[in-house]
Amino acid sequence: MGSKYVVALSSSPRRKGNSRILAEAVLEGAAEAGHRTELVHLADHVTGLLRNCRECRKPDGTCSIGDGFDDVFFNKMLKADGLVVATPIWWYGMSAHLKNFFDRMFCYFAASYPQSAEVVHAQIYRKHLAIVLSAEENNLSARLGALTSLLELSRYLHWTMTGVVTGIGNTTGEASNDPLNPLAEARALGRRMFDVVETDYKGDTPRSPRVWADDNRSLPTSWR
Ligand SMILES: Cc1cc2nc3c(=O)[nH]c(=O)nc-3n(C[C@H](O)[C@H](O)[C@H](O)COP(=O)(O)O)c2cc1C
Repeated sequence: MGSKYVVALSSSPRRKGNSRILAEAVLEGAAEAGHRTELVHLADHVTGLLRNCRECRKPDGTCSIGDGFDDVFFNKMLKADGLVVATPIWWYGMSAHLKNFFDRMFCYFAASYPQSAEVVHAQIYRKHLAIVLSAEENNLSARLGALTSLLELSRYLHWTMTGVVTGIGNTTGEASNDPLNPLAEARALGRRMFDVVETDYKGDTPRSPRVWADDNRSLPTSWR
């Protein structure tokens, strides 16, 4: 399959936070599978909120906010084959930092950026996506808002969804005590991130009656 480039967007401001340790575990797994990995601590790079792009762009169409967004977006996110999106649940949604990163993409995704087609649209589609979440509450409904947003974004951008791992914890790093061992799950997800087949079957989709292929490489998306 060859070595891929996997980038984690870690969106909690907590440097040793629960979502970040899960993101690091996915990257460890990806590295074990031979892939090149990099973690971006978003709070260090993306500090300005999206403004009105029509009034805010520089004459050449680039973003005038002037923080580290452009470097993360053009040199890391767009170049990645695999994305690990890591967020704590904040008020039943994704973190403000992650939402703002996606909001800020609009400046360059929009047709009003002169190179949106050649540079952005040429690279933004068909990535493999792993999602890691951390939350205090373990009810599924507490994380559905974040998941729904991220899955719709994934669908919109033709990304291949590979799996979700949730770590339950509240204090810094406490998800490592979660008895379901989400860190091991996250590492396993990283190892198989490019082997996963997203089974969005329709009634008439040709397929084997078996879920688990004999060569054990046809892995459906995993949800924890
Ligand atoms: C602003 C804020 C809002 C939060 N809202 C929720 C929530 O709605 N549901 C929940 O289960 N936990 C909530 N939490 C708790 C965090 O999701 C939890 O502590 C998580 O493990 C933090 O992950 P981190 O260490 O990666 O930052 C909230 C925490 C903060 C700071």
